[in-house]
Amino acid sequence: MTRIVVTGASGFIGSHLVDQLLAKGYDVIGIDNMRTGKKENLSNVRNNDRFRLLIADIRDEDLAIQIDDDVDAIYHLAAISSVSMSIEDPLLVNDVNTKGTVNILELARKLNAKRVVFSSSAAVYGDPEEMPVREDFALKPLSPYAASKIAAEMYIRSYSSSYGIDSTILRYFNVYGPRQAYSEYSGVVSIFTNHALSNEPIKIEGDGEQTRSFVHVSDVARATLLAGELNMAIGATINISGKDLISILRLAHLMKENVQGCKSEIVHVAPRLGDVQDSIGSMERAQKLLGFTPQIPLERGLQETSVWYRAHQDAK
Ligand SMILES: NC(=O)c1ccc[n+]([C@@H]2O[C@H](COP(=O)([O-])OP(=O)(O)OC[C@H]3O[C@@H](n4cnc5c(N)ncnc54)[C@H](O)[C@@H]3O)[C@@H](O)[C@H]2O)c1
Repeated sequence: MTRIVVTGASGFIGSHLVDQLLAKGYDVIGIDNMRTGKKENLSNVRNNDRFRLLIADIRDEDLAIQIDDDVDAIYHLAAISSVSMSIEDPLLVNDVNTKGTVNILELARKLNAKRVVFSSSAAVYGDPEEMPVREDFALKPLSPYAASKIAAEMYIRSYSSSYGIDSTILRYFNVYGPRQAYSEYSGVVSIFTNHALSNEPIKIEGDGEQTRSFVHVSDVARATLLAGELNMAIGATINISGKDLISILRLAHLMKENVQGCKSEIVHVAPRLGDVQDSIGSMERAQKLLGFTPQIPLERGLQETSVWYRAHQDAK
């Protein structure tokens, strides 16, 4: 049995990864301090005797004592994953995302992990001039969040060369789906759906002509799992993006249509400072190294996501 650590296990993407790892027969130890993670995200696996959740901070230097035995791989997802939060409190975001990553790499060393998979972000590219974005494009951090992810990526690579820990870096584009938290800091799909469910105005920042590629969380979890299994992925940095671009205005209309009887108005507010115009990643490398392409079509995924939010009464 292979022992795996997942940091950020109670979070949106981490909890889907835990589900998929357990389904494949791995033993999983989750680490999460419950900052944005939720216990109910792990309700499917609560009684699985191959799963244990350690409620702890990734910056805690005594994590190895609490895990107490070697592990084979670490999937490092825990982070403060909000650009706006990083603009409000860059010191905290640096502490969790960068220093926390170094501490998890130390954990990998102490527990003799052979492999680390790191969840980075498309934010590292800033506002590229060309689409789709390839992994060899220049890094242009436009926020402290992006800078913290770039710094963490560099530490991940340095531990491969200094200590021989094999690593893969994944740069996620816009991820959506069930269990995505709903708050002012969360993703646009979660905000639009929750506003549509409560008949509140759906607010579009700017003209809504900016475009994004959305990728379903179960596809992202599958790609992440594969990145830790396949030798082809060792040493690689790989985009995980959706296949198609959709404008934010079109997304707002779709989300409204998905909620029967929705009375929300679609309104325009001031554009967000530093918002990128378009964002889609080249998926050539993911296809070549992981054999991965997203499987869930956007319209179906969005519809299922609305149904999930309604059932979980996350609407305000
Ligand atoms: N959701 C997206 O669209 C997206 C896009 C690009 C990159 N990412 C990255 O993917 C990863 C997972 O993101 P998510 O969307 O699931 O976010 P999330 O907030 O749902 O999950 C992050 C988890 O980390 C935990 N955490 C935060 N600080 C911690 C700490 N100090 N110690 C222990 N646990 C801590 C949180 O409680 C939470 O459960 C993050 O690294 C994020 O930056 C996400």
